[in-house]
Amino acid sequence: MTIVSVLEQPMAKDRHTYSITGGVPLEGSITASGAKNAVTKQLVAGLLTDQPCVLHKVPRIVEVDLVLGMLAELGTEVTWLGEHSVRVHTPEVRETSLSAMYSGVNRIPILMMGPLLHRRGETIVPLPGGCTIGKRPIDFHLEGLRQMGADIAEHPTSVKVHVDRLAGAHIDLPFPSVGATENLLLAAVRAFGTTVISNAAVEPEIVDLILMLQKMGALITIDTDRTITVEGVRELRGVEHTTIADRIEIASFAAAAIATDGRIEVRGARQEHLVTYLNTLRHIGGDFAETRDGLEFWRARPLTATDVETGVHPGFMTDWQQPLTVLLTQATGTSVVHETIYEDRFGYTEQLSAMGASVELTTRCLGAVACRFHGRDFQHTAKISGPRRLHGADLVIPDLRAGFGYVLAALVADGTSTITGTRYLERGYEQPVAKLAAVGAHITTQSV
Ligand code: EPU
Repeated sequence: MTIVSVLEQPMAKDRHTYSITGGVPLEGSITASGAKNAVTKQLVAGLLTDQPCVLHKVPRIVEVDLVLGMLAELGTEVTWLGEHSVRVHTPEVRETSLSAMYSGVNRIPILMMGPLLHRRGETIVPLPGGCTIGKRPIDFHLEGLRQMGADIAEHPTSVKVHVDRLAGAHIDLPFPSVGATENLLLAAVRAFGTTVISNAAVEPEIVDLILMLQKMGALITIDTDRTITVEGVRELRGVEHTTIADRIEIASFAAAAIATDGRIEVRGARQEHLVTYLNTLRHIGGDFAETRDGLEFWRARPLTATDVETGVHPGFMTDWQQPLTVLLTQATGTSVVHETIYEDRFGYTEQLSAMGASVELTTRCLGAVACRFHGRDFQHTAKISGPRRLHGADLVIPDLRAGFGYVLAALVADGTSTITGTRYLERGYEQPVAKLAAVGAHITTQSV
């Protein structure tokens, strides 16, 4: 039988091409969707119990459909209770392994190892593979699970794991990886004994996962030095949980308001999840205010250059980097963006330069501190000089976050741009076209 990766199936093809005519200030209100990077992990957490779990504010995006497809394969009953509420119930894990068609699709199957080991003691999960932003290995995940007693055999496209019962361990992460922290949390909550994860990531999406797990009966503490301690419990119960708003989507629309010299209110946006981003917007000349339902963003003065370094939370998140870089093409002076999370996350700037932007990449660390990529051959720092008039172009999206960067570039450019590769954008943004149109963007789509 030939296995067709989900990536080659119809849902992996563009559904639309976008056509955007720039130069229009965006004005109006939109509602933030639930966070992709929280909800997809929370759906996995539902596997930890045989009772039903209900999640609210679930975005209707391809990435969620993919995770629900994986869960259904394992035996989860999936019921949509409303447009954004879903119930997942796994009274019994029927299959311990996910099929190979999910190999290379996303990073969710590897997070299922812990729950599946607790429910069935063994699993084979497909590997995520690298992508256009970097190699993205999973060595921290596997090393942590080994420390918890898992017996792991690595194969080219999958890992086979087996254990009688996972046991608590002290795991010191070499880097505060979001995925590895989540993986170890999902493994530790039902393990025998106490697990300490030091140098853990504490992104708001991880805290939201912890809140859900706590409601399910888990015992988890987060210390001020980013140490997470989990006292394992035998069983977890069902839960009803509302996912946090997507702070990447919010930042994207904030950048769009400021770049186009408009004003956008994002309902559901919460200041506490955006502190570093809001400071950066102010440094550039943007501003924000709290409204009854969220936050409103606008340009307060002519934009000026700034220096930014991406980092782990509470730093400037790497997924805010692309809309910010486009925004900086409109600021006076030379800005520096030092990307310290992914080694190869500036490939998308080549097409910005073709639109008229001045973006120079360097392998040097032009930030306050030398990062993990110091002295290596990765073009991970960008110097952006502005302001530059951008002109419309034919753009091909290489990955999700670069996707909104291109949409933003098209929104500020003179003339009309055509954007393909929109399947990447639509994997992570809910109804991007409708939301952009709601704030006055001149955007049309063509079915392909
Ligand atoms: N890393 C390793 N070994 C590991 C794990 C990570 O070397 O075992 C390295 C990675 O190669 C990378 C760095 O550590 O250089 C950080 O990776 P991390 O594990 O934190 O990222 P992730 O869990 O794979 C999630 C989000 C990303 C987001 C990052 C950082 C999901 C599904 N993905 O990835 O989101 O950029 O955290 O915040 O939650 C996106 O939504 O478009 C996206 C890429």
